[in-house]
Amino acid sequence: MFQNPICVALDTPDPALAAAMAGRLKGRVGMAKVGMELFYRTGRAGYEQVAAQGVPVFLDLKLHDIPNTVAQGLTSLMSLAPAPAIVNVHATGGPAMLEAAARAVDGKARLIAVTILTSLSDADIHAAGFDPAADTAQTAVKLAQLSKQSGLDGVVCSPHDTAAIKAACGADFITVVPGVRPAGADVQDQKRIATPRTARADGADILVIGRPITQAADPAAAAAAITASLEG
Ligand code: C5P
Repeated sequence: MFQNPICVALDTPDPALAAAMAGRLKGRVGMAKVGMELFYRTGRAGYEQVAAQGVPVFLDLKLHDIPNTVAQGLTSLMSLAPAPAIVNVHATGGPAMLEAAARAVDGKARLIAVTILTSLSDADIHAAGFDPAADTAQTAVKLAQLSKQSGLDGVVCSPHDTAAIKAACGADFITVVPGVRPAGADVQDQKRIATPRTARADGADILVIGRPITQAADPAAAAAAITASLEG
């Protein structure tokens, strides 16, 4: 499943654009990420237009609600054709929600959890009511361990937390890592970044990369160059 670790983020609400990009990148990336902007606008039709290109899809909807509602939402998502390769929930939904989510997905897709959104600073996290004494990186590891104990397959995490999460949860626990920028590329609004090679060396299984590929003059060549940078 992870022979090619690159997951291109198709961050557009337009299904025709998303499907065209997925088609151009088929064979150059291992997966494509479809998010809320496309799914909330077009629902299953838009998702299926992208998935029909033959690239496995990470459906990034980050469910977070009471266990019964999340389980029913995931059951609905599992009726998509083809089923997504990966779906996700928030780890802060708690153990009962995570366990209900795992039962609903039932191995039909990989189920991963968002630990702490990497857009949040320590001050933001404390403002949101988390333990002011806790270190954010330690909280991310704790939520990753909870996700594993609850039967999930992995987490979304910062490149800077990947090594600690792998050490705590084991090599088989999947790490999906955004904030990846090829050496010399425009950082844009990302802050805590790593190069694809460093992120992989730290244990990232899947590299989520958007604009450095989708906004390149030749997206397929950009994806191929990133793959080459991992091998070289
Ligand atoms: O264009 P870029 O490579 O920055 O896109 C990264 C993708 O990963 C976007 O879809 C973004 O929403 C997502 N993401 C992120 N940072 C997180 C979680 C998700 O950049 N902490």
